[in-house]
Amino acid sequence: MNNSDSDSPVVALVPAAGRGVRLGENMPKAFVAVGGTPMVRLAVDGLLASGAVDRIIVMVPVELVESAVALLPPSDAVRVVVGGAERTDSVRAGIAAAPDAGYYLVHDAARALTPPALIARVAAELRAGRRAVVPALPVVDTVKTVDQDGVVTGTPNRAALRAIQTPQGFAADLLRAAYETNVLATDDAGLVERLGAEVHTIPGDPMAFKITTPLDLMLAETVCNAARSV
Ligand code: C5P
Repeated sequence: MNNSDSDSPVVALVPAAGRGVRLGENMPKAFVAVGGTPMVRLAVDGLLASGAVDRIIVMVPVELVESAVALLPPSDAVRVVVGGAERTDSVRAGIAAAPDAGYYLVHDAARALTPPALIARVAAELRAGRRAVVPALPVVDTVKTVDQDGVVTGTPNRAALRAIQTPQGFAADLLRAAYETNVLATDDAGLVERLGAEVHTIPGDPMAFKITTPLDLMLAETVCNAARSV
C-alpha cells in the first residue's frame, strides 16, 4: 500500500540490537554511555528534537527491553521492540511494529550525535516527494578493492565515492518492498537500490559519524565535553 502523502506519519526506526564487539565494551554498543548518556537515548533525543518525527520504534536485544524502556523518555511516541540477529532482522522487526507509517527514517543508535537539523532535512525531502533519501559525505581516504589475499584489484575514482550516514529516509511502501527480499545489506538504501529505485543523496554532517571503535568513542566523549563547557 502506498500511504505516503505529505501528511502521513513519519516513523523513525532505531536499530539498537547490535552486539558492538568492535567497540570493546562489555555491553551492547547502543547502551554504552557517551558523555554520561547511553547512545540509544541520545539518538532518540535527537529524533525528538528534530520535530520531524511522529513516532519512534527502538529495536534492542531481547534481554535489554526493560532496561531500554527505563532509560528512554517516557512518551507515547516511543516504543521498544525486540531486534534480530542481523541489522536487517532488526529493521524488519521495526517495520512490522509500525505498519501504518507513511515514511520511515532508519537511524542507527550508534550515530548518537547526529544533529536534529540533518534529521529534519531528510524528512523534509521525503515530504517534498523524494522516495529514498540518504545523507552523504565525500570520502577523504583513497578506497581500494582487494581480493581475499589482500592484493589490490582496483581503485575507484574517489570523486565519485560517498560515505553514507543515517537517518536514511524512505516512502514506507518502498522500504517494505525492499524488506520483502531476504538479502542482507549493511544499509537500507542498498536493499532499495536492488529494486531499481533511485536513491537521492543530500549533504551529510560530520557529527552524524558512527561510533564503532574505541577511538570513535573518545571523539564522541570529547565532543560532548566540549559542548558542555561552552
Ligand atoms: O554493526 P553496525 O555498526 O553496522 O550497526 C549499526 C546499527 O545497527 C547499530 O546501532 C546496531 O545496534 C544496529 N544493529 C541492530 N541489530 C543487529 C546488528 C546491528 O539493531 N543485529
